[in-house]
Amino acid sequence: MRTIEWQHGTIVTIDQTKLPQETVILEMKNVIEVADAIKTMKIRGAPLLGAAASFTLALAAYHSKTENKAELINELEKAAEILKETRPTAVNLFWAIDKIMTKARDFSGNAKDLAASVVEEAQKIADEDVAANRLIGKHGAELIRDGDVILTHCNAGALATVDYGTALGVIRAAWEQGKKIRVIATETRPKLQGARLTTYELKRDGIPVTLITDNMVGYVMYKRLVDKVIVGADRIVKNAVINKIGTYTIAVLAKEHNIPFYVAAPKSTFDLSRSSTDVTIEERLSEEVTHIGSQMIAPKGVNVLNPAFDITPLKYVTSVICEGGVLRKEDFVKFEANL
Ligand code: MRU
Repeated sequence: MRTIEWQHGTIVTIDQTKLPQETVILEMKNVIEVADAIKTMKIRGAPLLGAAASFTLALAAYHSKTENKAELINELEKAAEILKETRPTAVNLFWAIDKIMTKARDFSGNAKDLAASVVEEAQKIADEDVAANRLIGKHGAELIRDGDVILTHCNAGALATVDYGTALGVIRAAWEQGKKIRVIATETRPKLQGARLTTYELKRDGIPVTLITDNMVGYVMYKRLVDKVIVGADRIVKNAVINKIGTYTIAVLAKEHNIPFYVAAPKSTFDLSRSSTDVTIEERLSEEVTHIGSQMIAPKGVNVLNPAFDITPLKYVTSVICEGGVLRKEDFVKFEANL
């Protein structure tokens, strides 16, 4: 099964807050339910957020009772507004909504045909994500040598996308080519996507993985235990890569130790007309830091900072791997014209 599927008017996905202990399948039929699942990170990962937002607009269209096209567009606009309030940083969510809404506003048929076209467009966005990840894997695998140890952060795998993954897509493709690679996964405090999701995916595929805590990255690099870093991205702007909190620390350490730092992301993550100061970095609840799971680890009432993402200036990025190929940062400006 793909991480997200459209099944006759229902979104079917997996509750990522329950993994790896439990595999709970979610079936959702309305916009509020999906918006809530995104806020609580049952659904997470930039490309998956794009696909989920697309299918949520498909839900709104599919279940609409109106036969009036203007009314249907109004309902879609309302659903889009709700979705845009869920998580601010991953651009894929906004990209997917804007793609579908632009098409809907320009649609010339009746309400019934418009609803069908929204469902079709959402499915296309999901299918294109899988195709993009396969290409990212193919291009990225060329950078990987037999025997490499690759460090990755957070979860940029099948669970963060519709299928296959971006950073883990590169790792999967290299593994499928027979390269005997090993992975070091950082746990990724506070939500533990690395410990819970990346190790789960890699173990399931039989790819050797070693889990470390986030503060061990300096040690493993100093000890020359890492050959390459590959991470995903929530947004690539003209001067930086915005990704899971902790990415910047890893990038600076990688530069200090002359370790290549690769970012794997589809073009739907590119936002090259903006720079890092234009982007809202999501701040999440303090409980995520004061607690591990349901266990409180800090004194009640302590001040907490909980940014979900950080900003890595492009000078730390060796290359970006996208479906179009492996891009050096100098190529971005030229590449933007062809997006
Ligand atoms: O807060 P999350 O779990 O949604 O953050 C996910 C990440 O930061 C991933 O690295 C990014 O979305 C790329 S996923 C292919």
